[in-house]
Amino acid sequence: MAATLSPFLASWLAALSAILAAGDSETLALFFNVDARLSKATIQLRQDVTQYSRPDEDAEADAIRVIIDPNEQWSSIVRMVHGYIQYVRSLDADIGLAQRFDRLLKFLNAVSSAADNNSGAVLNRLVLNGAKHLTRLGIICDNLRNDGSLQYTEQAHSVVQKLFNVSLKGVRIPHELGKRETSVGIINCLFKLNSKMGRVGSMTTIIINLQNVLPSITITSDTHFSTAQRCTYAYFIGIECFQNAQFLKAATSFQESFDLCHPSFLRNRRKILIHLVTSNVIIGRFPSQTLYSLPEAAQFRDVFTPIVIAIKLGNFSSFERALLRSKKWLVHFGVFHDLEIRCETLIWRNLIKNVFAVSGNTTKSGIESIGLDKIYEASRILRANLNPRVTGITQHGKADFSERFKESSVLSIVLGLIDNGWFNGYVNLEKGMLAGWSSKSRLVTRLADVRNQYVGMLWGGERGSGVTEKEITGDEKGEKSGASNTVVPNTAAISNPPVFGGFGFGAFGPTNGNRGGGGYATDPGDDTEMEF
Ligand SMILES: *[C@@H]1O[C@H](CO)[C@@H](O)[C@H](O)[C@H]1NC(C)=O
Ligand SMILES: *[C@@H]1O[C@H](CO)[C@@H](O)[C@H](O)[C@H]1NC(C)=O
Ligand SMILES: *[C@@H]1O[C@H](CO)[C@@H](O)[C@H](O)[C@H]1NC(C)=O
Ligand SMILES: *[C@@H]1O[C@H](CO)[C@@H](O)[C@H](O)[C@H]1NC(C)=O
Repeated sequence: MAATLSPFLASWLAALSAILAAGDSETLALFFNVDARLSKATIQLRQDVTQYSRPDEDAEADAIRVIIDPNEQWSSIVRMVHGYIQYVRSLDADIGLAQRFDRLLKFLNAVSSAADNNSGAVLNRLVLNGAKHLTRLGIICDNLRNDGSLQYTEQAHSVVQKLFNVSLKGVRIPHELGKRETSVGIINCLFKLNSKMGRVGSMTTIIINLQNVLPSITITSDTHFSTAQRCTYAYFIGIECFQNAQFLKAATSFQESFDLCHPSFLRNRRKILIHLVTSNVIIGRFPSQTLYSLPEAAQFRDVFTPIVIAIKLGNFSSFERALLRSKKWLVHFGVFHDLEIRCETLIWRNLIKNVFAVSGNTTKSGIESIGLDKIYEASRILRANLNPRVTGITQHGKADFSERFKESSVLSIVLGLIDNGWFNGYVNLEKGMLAGWSSKSRLVTRLADVRNQYVGMLWGGERGSGVTEKEITGDEKGEKSGASNTVVPNTAAISNPPVFGGFGFGAFGPTNGNRGGGGYATDPGDDTEMEF
Protein backbone atom coordinates (compact mmCIF):
# COMPACT_ATOMS: atom_id res chain seq x y z
CA MET A 1 0.00 0.00 0.00
CA ALA A 2 2.21 2.72 -1.33
CA ALA A 3 1.63 6.29 -0.34
CA THR A 4 0.41 8.72 -2.91
CA LEU A 5 3.25 10.83 -4.21
CA SER A 6 2.83 14.34 -5.49
CA PRO A 7 2.25 14.46 -9.23
CA PHE A 8 5.56 16.21 -9.73
CA LEU A 9 7.56 13.65 -7.77
CA ALA A 10 5.74 10.82 -9.47
CA SER A 11 6.60 12.11 -12.91
CA TRP A 12 10.19 12.86 -11.84
CA LEU A 13 10.50 9.22 -10.75
CA ALA A 14 8.89 7.93 -13.93
CA ALA A 15 11.39 9.88 -16.03
CA LEU A 16 14.24 8.60 -13.89
CA SER A 17 13.00 5.06 -14.29
CA ALA A 18 13.06 5.41 -18.07
CA ILE A 19 16.64 6.69 -18.00
CA LEU A 20 17.68 3.83 -15.74
CA ALA A 21 16.16 1.37 -18.16
CA ALA A 22 17.97 3.03 -21.04
CA GLY A 23 21.27 2.79 -19.13
CA ASP A 24 22.15 6.41 -19.91
CA SER A 25 24.72 7.34 -17.32
CA GLU A 26 25.23 10.97 -18.42
CA THR A 27 21.54 11.83 -18.37
CA LEU A 28 20.98 9.97 -15.15
CA ALA A 29 23.58 12.14 -13.43
CA LEU A 30 21.50 15.21 -14.32
CA PHE A 31 18.77 13.94 -12.03
CA PHE A 32 21.05 14.00 -9.01
CA ASN A 33 22.26 17.41 -8.10
CA VAL A 34 25.28 16.83 -5.89
CA ASP A 35 27.11 20.11 -6.36
CA ALA A 36 26.45 23.35 -4.56
CA ARG A 37 24.54 25.08 -7.32
CA LEU A 38 21.00 23.78 -7.57
CA SER A 39 19.49 23.34 -11.00
CA LYS A 40 16.00 24.58 -11.76
CA ALA A 41 14.71 21.03 -11.69
CA THR A 42 16.24 20.43 -8.27
CA ILE A 43 14.77 23.65 -6.90
CA GLN A 44 11.40 22.56 -8.13
CA LEU A 45 11.85 19.09 -6.70
CA ARG A 46 12.84 20.61 -3.39
CA GLN A 47 9.79 22.83 -3.29
CA ASP A 48 7.65 19.87 -4.10
CA VAL A 49 9.05 17.45 -1.53
CA THR A 50 9.09 20.02 1.25
CA GLN A 51 5.64 21.47 0.60
CA TYR A 52 3.68 18.43 -0.30
CA SER A 53 2.37 16.64 2.78
CA ARG A 54 5.11 14.23 3.71
CA PRO A 55 4.27 10.52 3.92
CA ASP A 56 6.08 8.39 6.49
CA GLU A 57 9.43 7.09 5.34
CA ASP A 58 8.51 3.46 4.78
CA ALA A 59 5.47 4.39 2.78
CA GLU A 60 7.53 6.80 0.72
CA ALA A 61 10.17 4.14 0.04
CA ASP A 62 7.44 1.73 -1.05
CA ALA A 63 5.99 4.30 -3.40
CA ILE A 64 9.43 4.89 -4.92
CA ARG A 65 10.00 1.16 -5.35
CA VAL A 66 6.79 0.73 -7.28
CA ILE A 67 8.07 3.15 -9.89
CA ILE A 68 11.84 2.57 -9.89
CA ASP A 69 12.20 -1.14 -9.19
CA PRO A 70 8.80 -2.80 -9.60
CA ASN A 71 10.27 -6.29 -10.03
CA GLU A 72 12.45 -5.91 -6.94
CA GLN A 73 15.68 -6.60 -8.84
CA TRP A 74 17.86 -3.92 -7.36
CA SER A 75 16.77 -2.92 -3.89
CA SER A 76 19.75 -0.67 -3.22
CA ILE A 77 18.78 1.71 -6.02
CA VAL A 78 15.49 2.35 -4.25
CA ARG A 79 17.33 3.24 -1.05
CA MET A 80 19.59 5.50 -3.08
CA VAL A 81 16.74 7.37 -4.76
CA HIS A 82 14.93 7.67 -1.46
CA GLY A 83 18.18 8.90 0.07
CA TYR A 84 18.34 11.59 -2.58
CA ILE A 85 14.79 12.78 -1.86
CA GLN A 86 15.76 13.07 1.80
CA TYR A 87 18.98 14.85 0.83
CA VAL A 88 17.10 17.40 -1.26
CA ARG A 89 14.54 17.88 1.48
CA SER A 90 17.30 18.68 3.96
CA LEU A 91 18.91 21.39 1.84
CA ASP A 92 17.60 24.44 3.68
CA ALA A 93 18.59 27.73 2.20
CA ASP A 94 20.79 28.60 5.16
CA ILE A 95 22.42 25.21 5.53
CA GLY A 96 26.11 25.40 6.39
CA LEU A 97 28.86 23.73 4.45
CA ALA A 98 29.53 21.20 7.17
CA GLN A 99 25.89 20.14 7.26
CA ARG A 100 25.81 19.91 3.52
CA PHE A 101 28.88 17.72 3.71
CA ASP A 102 27.23 15.37 6.23
CA ARG A 103 24.17 14.97 4.07
CA LEU A 104 26.10 14.46 0.87
CA LEU A 105 28.22 11.87 2.65
CA LYS A 106 25.12 9.96 3.67
CA PHE A 107 23.68 10.07 0.17
CA LEU A 108 26.94 8.94 -1.43
CA ASN A 109 27.09 5.98 0.92
CA ALA A 110 23.77 4.94 -0.55
CA VAL A 111 25.16 5.57 -4.05
CA SER A 112 28.14 3.29 -3.41
CA SER A 113 25.82 0.48 -2.29
CA ALA A 114 23.62 0.94 -5.33
CA ALA A 115 26.58 1.07 -7.70
CA ASP A 116 27.86 -2.22 -6.31
CA ASN A 117 25.48 -4.21 -8.49
CA ASN A 118 25.50 -5.76 -11.91
CA SER A 119 23.36 -2.88 -13.10
CA GLY A 120 25.59 -0.32 -11.38
CA ALA A 121 27.36 0.99 -14.50
CA VAL A 122 24.49 3.38 -15.20
CA LEU A 123 25.53 5.24 -12.06
CA ASN A 124 29.09 5.90 -13.28
CA ARG A 125 28.74 9.59 -13.93
CA LEU A 126 26.91 10.15 -10.67
CA VAL A 127 29.60 8.21 -8.80
CA LEU A 128 32.31 10.38 -10.34
CA ASN A 129 30.49 13.67 -9.79
CA GLY A 130 29.71 12.66 -6.22
CA ALA A 131 33.31 11.71 -5.47
CA LYS A 132 34.56 15.02 -6.89
CA HIS A 133 32.15 17.18 -4.93
CA LEU A 134 32.60 15.30 -1.70
CA THR A 135 36.37 15.62 -2.07
CA ARG A 136 36.17 19.35 -2.70
CA LEU A 137 33.67 19.93 0.09
CA GLY A 138 35.57 17.81 2.62
CA ILE A 139 38.82 19.69 1.99
CA ILE A 140 37.04 23.07 2.14
CA CYS A 141 35.36 22.15 5.44
CA ASP A 142 38.69 21.22 7.00
CA ASN A 143 40.34 24.34 5.61
CA LEU A 144 37.62 26.49 7.17
CA ARG A 145 37.87 24.79 10.53
CA ASN A 146 41.62 25.11 10.32
CA ASP A 147 42.16 23.39 13.67
CA GLY A 148 44.52 20.71 12.42
CA SER A 149 41.90 18.00 12.58
CA LEU A 150 41.09 16.44 9.25
CA GLN A 151 37.79 14.86 10.13
CA TYR A 152 36.00 15.88 6.95
CA THR A 153 38.83 14.82 4.71
CA GLU A 154 38.99 11.47 6.47
CA GLN A 155 35.26 10.89 6.23
CA ALA A 156 35.29 11.86 2.58
CA HIS A 157 38.23 9.54 2.01
CA SER A 158 36.45 6.50 3.38
CA VAL A 159 33.42 7.01 1.14
CA VAL A 160 35.49 7.90 -1.93
CA GLN A 161 37.61 4.81 -1.35
CA LYS A 162 34.41 2.76 -1.31
CA LEU A 163 33.29 4.38 -4.57
CA PHE A 164 36.68 3.63 -6.07
CA ASN A 165 36.54 -0.03 -5.09
CA VAL A 166 33.08 -0.35 -6.55
CA SER A 167 34.06 1.41 -9.76
CA LEU A 168 37.04 -0.93 -10.26
CA LYS A 169 34.85 -4.02 -10.08
CA GLY A 170 33.13 -3.14 -13.31
CA VAL A 171 36.15 -2.00 -15.27
CA ARG A 172 36.54 -5.28 -17.10
CA ILE A 173 33.27 -4.81 -18.93
CA PRO A 174 34.40 -4.53 -22.55
CA HIS A 175 34.18 -1.19 -24.30
CA GLU A 176 33.13 0.40 -21.07
CA LEU A 177 35.08 3.62 -21.21
CA GLY A 178 32.73 5.28 -18.77
CA LYS A 179 33.86 2.96 -16.05
CA ARG A 180 37.52 3.65 -16.80
CA GLU A 181 37.02 7.36 -16.67
CA THR A 182 35.20 6.95 -13.42
CA SER A 183 38.06 4.98 -11.89
CA VAL A 184 40.74 7.40 -13.03
CA GLY A 185 38.64 10.39 -11.95
CA ILE A 186 38.10 8.87 -8.52
CA ILE A 187 41.72 7.86 -8.00
CA ASN A 188 42.60 11.52 -8.57
CA CYS A 189 40.15 12.40 -5.79
CA LEU A 190 41.84 9.86 -3.55
CA PHE A 191 45.21 11.39 -4.38
CA LYS A 192 43.96 14.81 -3.35
CA LEU A 193 42.47 13.54 -0.11
CA ASN A 194 45.56 11.53 0.76
CA SER A 195 47.72 14.49 -0.10
CA LYS A 196 45.67 16.64 2.28
CA MET A 197 46.15 14.04 4.99
CA GLY A 198 49.88 13.82 4.32
CA ARG A 199 49.49 10.22 3.26
CA VAL A 200 50.75 10.35 -0.28
CA GLY A 201 53.20 7.53 -0.70
CA SER A 202 50.70 5.08 0.78
CA MET A 203 48.75 4.59 -2.39
CA THR A 204 50.91 2.07 -4.19
CA THR A 205 48.41 -0.74 -3.63
CA ILE A 206 45.46 1.05 -5.12
CA ILE A 207 47.54 2.33 -8.03
CA ILE A 208 48.47 -1.27 -8.75
CA ASN A 209 44.82 -2.27 -8.40
CA LEU A 210 43.90 0.30 -11.01
CA GLN A 211 46.75 -0.63 -13.33
CA ASN A 212 45.81 -4.30 -13.04
CA VAL A 213 42.35 -3.71 -14.36
CA LEU A 214 43.39 -1.17 -16.96
CA PRO A 215 46.36 -3.01 -18.42
CA SER A 216 45.89 -2.04 -22.01
CA ILE A 217 45.96 1.68 -21.60
CA THR A 218 48.49 4.13 -20.43
CA ILE A 219 46.39 6.59 -18.61
CA THR A 220 48.55 9.62 -19.23
CA SER A 221 48.62 9.15 -22.98
CA ASP A 222 45.07 7.89 -23.54
CA THR A 223 43.06 10.71 -25.00
CA HIS A 224 39.84 9.16 -23.74
CA PHE A 225 40.71 10.90 -20.56
CA SER A 226 40.61 14.65 -20.33
CA THR A 227 43.94 16.47 -20.31
CA ALA A 228 43.24 17.69 -16.79
CA GLN A 229 42.60 14.15 -15.58
CA ARG A 230 45.79 12.87 -17.19
CA CYS A 231 47.85 15.78 -15.89
CA THR A 232 46.57 15.30 -12.35
CA TYR A 233 47.08 11.55 -12.51
CA ALA A 234 50.67 11.90 -13.75
CA TYR A 235 51.42 14.48 -11.05
CA PHE A 236 50.22 12.28 -8.22
CA ILE A 237 51.88 9.16 -9.61
CA GLY A 238 55.04 11.27 -9.59
CA ILE A 239 54.44 12.28 -5.98
CA GLU A 240 53.85 8.66 -5.06
CA CYS A 241 57.15 7.57 -6.64
CA PHE A 242 58.90 10.58 -5.14
CA GLN A 243 57.77 9.60 -1.65
CA ASN A 244 58.99 6.08 -2.26
CA ALA A 245 62.42 7.31 -3.38
CA GLN A 246 61.91 6.19 -6.98
CA PHE A 247 63.26 9.39 -8.45
CA LEU A 248 63.77 8.29 -12.02
CA LYS A 249 60.16 7.14 -12.27
CA ALA A 250 59.04 10.25 -10.44
CA ALA A 251 60.91 12.50 -12.86
CA THR A 252 59.33 10.74 -15.82
CA SER A 253 55.87 11.18 -14.38
CA PHE A 254 56.39 14.82 -13.43
CA GLN A 255 57.68 15.50 -16.92
CA GLU A 256 54.51 13.96 -18.39
CA SER A 257 52.39 15.99 -16.05
CA PHE A 258 54.31 19.16 -16.85
CA ASP A 259 53.91 18.58 -20.58
CA LEU A 260 50.17 18.09 -20.12
CA CYS A 261 49.72 21.18 -17.97
CA HIS A 262 48.53 24.16 -19.97
CA PRO A 263 51.11 26.99 -20.10
CA SER A 264 48.62 29.43 -18.59
CA PHE A 265 48.30 27.48 -15.33
CA LEU A 266 51.47 28.94 -13.89
CA ARG A 267 50.78 27.98 -10.30
CA ASN A 268 50.21 24.33 -11.14
CA ARG A 269 53.17 24.26 -13.47
CA ARG A 270 55.37 25.67 -10.76
CA LYS A 271 54.19 23.02 -8.32
CA ILE A 272 54.97 20.27 -10.83
CA LEU A 273 58.25 21.86 -11.84
CA ILE A 274 59.65 22.09 -8.33
CA HIS A 275 59.18 18.36 -7.92
CA LEU A 276 60.44 17.63 -11.41
CA VAL A 277 63.62 19.61 -10.77
CA THR A 278 64.13 18.06 -7.34
CA SER A 279 63.74 14.49 -8.65
CA ASN A 280 66.16 15.22 -11.46
CA VAL A 281 68.75 16.90 -9.26
CA ILE A 282 68.75 13.87 -6.97
CA ILE A 283 69.70 11.64 -9.90
CA GLY A 284 72.20 14.10 -11.36
CA ARG A 285 70.21 15.84 -14.08
CA PHE A 286 70.54 19.52 -13.49
CA PRO A 287 68.34 22.37 -14.66
CA SER A 288 69.29 24.06 -17.91
CA GLN A 289 69.37 27.80 -18.55
CA THR A 290 66.23 27.37 -20.64
CA LEU A 291 64.44 25.92 -17.67
CA TYR A 292 65.59 28.69 -15.39
CA SER A 293 64.14 31.27 -17.72
CA LEU A 294 60.63 29.78 -17.77
CA PRO A 295 58.10 32.10 -16.13
CA GLU A 296 57.02 29.34 -13.75
CA ALA A 297 60.62 28.86 -12.66
CA ALA A 298 61.00 32.24 -10.94
CA GLN A 299 63.67 32.03 -8.19
CA PHE A 300 64.74 28.55 -9.28
CA ARG A 301 68.08 29.79 -10.57
CA ASP A 302 68.85 31.50 -7.32
CA VAL A 303 67.91 28.49 -5.19
CA PHE A 304 69.31 25.67 -7.28
CA THR A 305 72.53 27.08 -8.70
CA PRO A 306 74.53 26.84 -5.45
CA ILE A 307 72.98 23.46 -4.69
CA VAL A 308 74.02 22.08 -8.06
CA ILE A 309 77.54 23.51 -7.80
CA ALA A 310 77.99 21.90 -4.39
CA ILE A 311 76.74 18.55 -5.66
CA LYS A 312 79.10 18.64 -8.62
CA LEU A 313 82.05 19.40 -6.36
CA GLY A 314 81.02 16.83 -3.77
CA ASN A 315 81.30 19.55 -1.15
CA PHE A 316 78.99 18.61 1.71
CA SER A 317 79.68 21.82 3.57
CA SER A 318 78.69 24.12 0.75
CA PHE A 319 75.74 21.85 -0.04
CA GLU A 320 74.43 22.25 3.48
CA ARG A 321 75.01 25.97 3.31
CA ALA A 322 73.14 26.21 0.00
CA LEU A 323 70.21 24.25 1.37
CA LEU A 324 69.90 26.22 4.59
CA ARG A 325 70.12 29.45 2.66
CA SER A 326 66.90 28.54 0.80
CA LYS A 327 65.38 26.45 3.54
CA LYS A 328 62.17 28.44 3.87
CA TRP A 329 61.52 28.31 0.17
CA LEU A 330 62.29 24.61 -0.10
CA VAL A 331 60.25 23.72 2.98
CA HIS A 332 57.35 25.70 1.57
CA PHE A 333 57.39 23.53 -1.54
CA GLY A 334 57.86 20.37 0.49
CA VAL A 335 61.21 19.28 -0.95
CA PHE A 336 63.74 20.40 1.65
CA HIS A 337 64.16 17.08 3.42
CA ASP A 338 64.22 15.09 0.21
CA LEU A 339 67.08 17.18 -1.10
CA GLU A 340 68.82 17.06 2.26
CA ILE A 341 68.66 13.30 2.55
CA ARG A 342 68.60 11.97 -0.99
CA CYS A 343 71.35 14.05 -2.58
CA GLU A 344 73.95 12.48 -0.34
CA THR A 345 74.40 9.50 -2.61
CA LEU A 346 75.23 11.71 -5.57
CA ILE A 347 77.47 14.00 -3.53
CA TRP A 348 79.47 11.04 -2.29
CA ARG A 349 79.74 9.69 -5.78
CA ASN A 350 80.96 13.03 -7.10
CA LEU A 351 83.34 13.51 -4.23
CA ILE A 352 84.97 10.17 -4.97
CA LYS A 353 84.94 10.88 -8.69
CA ASN A 354 86.78 14.13 -8.07
CA VAL A 355 89.27 12.49 -5.74
CA PHE A 356 89.92 9.92 -8.41
CA ALA A 357 90.61 12.65 -10.94
CA VAL A 358 93.27 14.09 -8.62
CA SER A 359 94.79 11.08 -6.92
CA GLY A 360 93.47 7.98 -8.57
CA ASN A 361 95.70 5.39 -10.15
CA THR A 362 95.43 3.55 -13.42
CA THR A 363 97.56 0.47 -13.96
CA LYS A 364 99.37 -0.08 -17.22
CA SER A 365 96.66 -2.50 -18.22
CA GLY A 366 94.10 0.21 -17.50
CA ILE A 367 92.51 -0.86 -14.22
CA GLU A 368 91.50 2.13 -12.17
CA SER A 369 91.80 2.42 -8.42
CA ILE A 370 91.75 4.86 -5.59
CA GLY A 371 92.86 4.68 -1.98
CA LEU A 372 90.19 4.69 0.69
CA ASP A 373 92.46 6.91 2.77
CA LYS A 374 92.40 9.52 -0.01
CA ILE A 375 88.62 9.45 0.04
CA TYR A 376 88.62 9.79 3.79
CA GLU A 377 91.04 12.72 3.71
CA ALA A 378 88.97 14.54 1.14
CA SER A 379 85.72 13.89 2.91
CA ARG A 380 87.11 15.25 6.16
CA ILE A 381 87.78 18.50 4.35
CA LEU A 382 84.54 18.59 2.38
CA ARG A 383 82.47 17.70 5.43
CA ALA A 384 84.08 20.26 7.71
CA ASN A 385 81.78 22.27 9.98
CA LEU A 386 78.58 20.49 9.14
CA ASN A 387 75.74 21.15 11.53
CA PRO A 388 75.29 18.43 14.11
CA ARG A 389 72.86 15.81 12.96
CA VAL A 390 70.83 13.23 14.73
CA THR A 391 72.71 10.01 14.20
CA GLY A 392 70.75 7.79 16.53
CA ILE A 393 69.12 7.53 19.91
CA THR A 394 71.10 7.60 23.13
CA GLN A 395 70.62 5.04 25.86
CA HIS A 396 68.31 7.51 27.55
CA GLY A 397 66.07 7.65 24.52
CA LYS A 398 67.19 11.07 23.39
CA ALA A 399 68.46 12.18 20.04
CA ASP A 400 72.13 11.47 19.63
CA PHE A 401 74.13 14.09 17.74
CA SER A 402 77.58 12.63 17.93
CA GLU A 403 78.69 12.12 14.37
CA ARG A 404 81.04 9.17 14.29
CA PHE A 405 82.65 9.74 10.98
CA LYS A 406 85.84 7.78 10.60
CA GLU A 407 87.80 5.85 8.07
CA SER A 408 85.62 2.80 8.41
CA SER A 409 82.57 4.97 7.69
CA VAL A 410 84.05 5.58 4.26
CA LEU A 411 84.21 1.85 3.73
CA SER A 412 80.51 1.43 4.48
CA ILE A 413 79.62 4.25 2.16
CA VAL A 414 81.78 3.02 -0.68
CA LEU A 415 80.35 -0.48 -0.40
CA GLY A 416 76.85 0.93 -0.46
CA LEU A 417 77.60 2.96 -3.56
CA ILE A 418 79.05 -0.08 -5.31
CA ASP A 419 76.04 -2.19 -4.42
CA ASN A 420 73.80 0.32 -6.07
CA GLY A 421 75.68 0.70 -9.28
CA TRP A 422 77.34 4.07 -8.75
CA PHE A 423 80.78 2.41 -9.01
CA ASN A 424 81.90 -0.46 -11.20
CA GLY A 425 84.28 -2.14 -8.84
CA TYR A 426 85.07 -3.75 -5.55
CA VAL A 427 86.94 -2.93 -2.37
CA ASN A 428 90.33 -4.51 -1.87
CA LEU A 429 90.54 -4.42 1.91
CA GLU A 430 94.16 -5.58 2.07
CA LYS A 431 95.36 -2.68 -0.02
CA GLY A 432 92.73 -0.25 1.24
CA MET A 433 91.65 0.44 -2.32
CA LEU A 434 88.49 0.91 -4.26
CA ALA A 435 89.31 -0.73 -7.58
CA GLY A 436 87.64 -1.20 -10.94
CA TRP A 437 86.68 -4.62 -12.21
CA SER A 438 88.67 -4.58 -15.39
CA SER A 439 90.42 -2.37 -17.85
CA LYS A 440 87.27 -2.35 -19.93
CA SER A 441 84.98 -0.89 -17.32
CA ARG A 442 85.49 2.44 -15.72
CA LEU A 443 85.49 2.67 -11.98
CA VAL A 444 83.13 5.62 -11.73
CA THR A 445 79.80 4.79 -13.32
CA ARG A 446 78.54 7.50 -15.61
CA LEU A 447 75.32 8.98 -14.32
CA ALA A 448 73.62 8.18 -17.59
CA ASP A 449 74.42 4.54 -16.91
CA VAL A 450 73.14 4.46 -13.34
CA ARG A 451 69.71 3.07 -13.96
CA ASN A 452 68.68 3.32 -10.39
CA GLN A 453 65.05 3.55 -9.51
CA TYR A 454 65.67 4.14 -5.88
CA VAL A 455 67.99 6.57 -4.22
CA GLY A 456 68.30 5.35 -0.67
CA MET A 457 69.73 7.09 2.29
CA LEU A 458 73.30 6.91 3.46
CA TRP A 459 73.87 7.07 7.15
CA GLY A 460 71.31 5.97 9.61
CA GLY A 461 68.01 5.26 7.92
CA GLU A 462 64.65 6.91 8.21
CA ARG A 463 65.14 8.74 11.47
CA GLY A 464 68.85 9.06 11.46
CA SER A 465 70.20 11.23 8.74
CA GLY A 466 68.57 14.35 7.55
CA VAL A 467 67.24 15.75 10.77
CA THR A 468 69.19 18.88 11.37
CA GLU A 469 69.59 20.51 14.70
CA LYS A 470 66.81 23.00 14.09
CA GLU A 471 64.06 20.41 14.07
CA ILE A 472 64.92 19.20 17.55
CA THR A 473 63.15 21.12 20.26
CA GLY A 474 63.28 21.46 24.00
CA ASP A 475 65.73 19.68 26.23
CA GLU A 476 66.94 17.42 23.47
CA LYS A 477 69.19 20.27 22.45
CA GLY A 478 71.34 19.54 25.47
CA GLU A 479 72.33 16.29 23.85
CA LYS A 480 74.38 17.74 21.06
CA SER A 481 77.46 17.98 23.20
CA GLY A 482 79.36 15.68 20.87
CA ALA A 483 80.15 18.48 18.46
CA SER A 484 80.11 18.06 14.73
CA ASN A 485 83.69 17.30 13.97
CA THR A 486 84.71 15.33 16.98
CA VAL A 487 85.49 11.85 15.91
CA VAL A 488 84.16 9.83 18.78
CA PRO A 489 86.37 6.85 19.37
CA ASN A 490 84.07 3.90 19.20
CA THR A 491 82.96 1.25 16.76
CA ALA A 492 80.07 3.22 15.44
CA ALA A 493 80.63 2.64 11.77
CA ILE A 494 80.41 -1.05 12.32
CA SER A 495 77.61 -1.11 14.87
CA ASN A 496 75.76 1.50 12.88
CA PRO A 497 75.97 0.44 9.25
CA PRO A 498 74.48 2.72 6.66
CA VAL A 499 70.99 1.85 5.61
CA PHE A 500 69.99 1.87 1.99
CA GLY A 501 66.25 2.11 2.17
CA GLY A 502 64.40 0.31 -0.56
CA PHE A 503 67.34 -0.66 -2.72
CA GLY A 504 67.14 -3.78 -4.76
CA PHE A 505 69.48 -5.19 -7.35
CA GLY A 506 66.59 -5.80 -9.65
CA ALA A 507 66.16 -2.10 -10.11
CA PHE A 508 69.39 -1.71 -12.01
CA GLY A 509 69.83 -2.41 -15.64
CA PRO A 510 73.18 -3.57 -16.90
CA THR A 511 75.65 -0.75 -17.17
CA ASN A 512 76.66 0.11 -20.67
CA GLY A 513 80.15 -0.35 -21.89
CA ASN A 514 82.11 2.74 -21.02
CA ARG A 515 83.16 4.10 -24.32
CA GLY A 516 85.61 6.86 -24.84
CA GLY A 517 87.53 6.74 -21.59
CA GLY A 518 88.44 10.46 -21.52
CA GLY A 519 88.48 12.69 -18.47
CA TYR A 520 85.35 12.21 -16.42
CA ALA A 521 84.72 15.89 -15.95
CA THR A 522 83.84 16.50 -19.58
CA ASP A 523 81.98 13.26 -20.09
CA PRO A 524 78.68 13.85 -21.91
CA GLY A 525 77.17 10.92 -20.02
CA ASP A 526 77.63 12.75 -16.78
CA ASP A 527 75.87 15.61 -15.05
CA THR A 528 73.37 15.92 -17.84
CA GLU A 529 70.96 18.73 -18.20
CA MET A 530 67.26 18.12 -17.87
CA GLU A 531 65.43 17.81 -21.12
CA PHE A 532 62.74 20.28 -21.99
C1 LIG B 1 21.93 -6.37 -7.16
O1 LIG B 1 20.75 -6.15 -6.42
C2 LIG B 1 19.92 -7.31 -6.26
C3 LIG B 1 18.63 -6.90 -5.60
O2 LIG B 1 18.88 -6.06 -4.55
C4 LIG B 1 20.68 -8.33 -5.44
O3 LIG B 1 19.90 -9.49 -5.29
C5 LIG B 1 21.97 -8.66 -6.15
O4 LIG B 1 22.73 -9.53 -5.36
C6 LIG B 1 22.77 -7.40 -6.44
N1 LIG B 1 23.92 -7.73 -7.26
C7 LIG B 1 25.17 -7.50 -6.87
C8 LIG B 1 26.24 -7.91 -7.82
O5 LIG B 1 25.43 -6.96 -5.83
C1 LIG C 1 38.98 -1.12 -1.00
O1 LIG C 1 39.80 -2.16 -1.50
C2 LIG C 1 41.03 -2.32 -0.83
C3 LIG C 1 41.80 -3.43 -1.49
O2 LIG C 1 41.87 -3.24 -2.84
C4 LIG C 1 40.77 -2.67 0.63
O3 LIG C 1 42.01 -2.76 1.31
C5 LIG C 1 39.92 -1.59 1.26
O4 LIG C 1 39.61 -1.95 2.58
C6 LIG C 1 38.68 -1.36 0.48
N1 LIG C 1 38.03 -0.20 1.07
C7 LIG C 1 36.73 -0.06 1.16
C8 LIG C 1 36.25 1.16 1.84
O5 LIG C 1 35.96 -0.88 0.68
C1 LIG D 1 83.53 23.60 0.49
O1 LIG D 1 82.55 24.54 0.80
C2 LIG D 1 82.87 25.34 1.90
C3 LIG D 1 81.64 26.17 2.22
O2 LIG D 1 81.19 26.86 1.11
C4 LIG D 1 84.06 26.20 1.56
O3 LIG D 1 84.39 27.04 2.65
C5 LIG D 1 85.22 25.27 1.24
O4 LIG D 1 86.32 26.01 0.81
C6 LIG D 1 84.84 24.27 0.16
N1 LIG D 1 85.88 23.29 0.08
C7 LIG D 1 86.49 22.99 -1.04
C8 LIG D 1 87.58 22.00 -0.94
O5 LIG D 1 86.18 23.49 -2.10
C1 LIG E 1 99.24 5.39 -7.03
O1 LIG E 1 99.96 6.44 -7.64
C2 LIG E 1 100.77 7.19 -6.76
C3 LIG E 1 101.38 8.31 -7.52
O2 LIG E 1 100.50 8.88 -8.39
C4 LIG E 1 101.80 6.32 -6.11
O3 LIG E 1 102.53 7.05 -5.18
C5 LIG E 1 101.13 5.15 -5.43
O4 LIG E 1 102.09 4.25 -4.96
C6 LIG E 1 100.22 4.42 -6.39
N1 LIG E 1 99.53 3.43 -5.65
C7 LIG E 1 99.37 2.20 -6.08
C8 LIG E 1 98.65 1.27 -5.14
O5 LIG E 1 99.73 1.84 -7.15
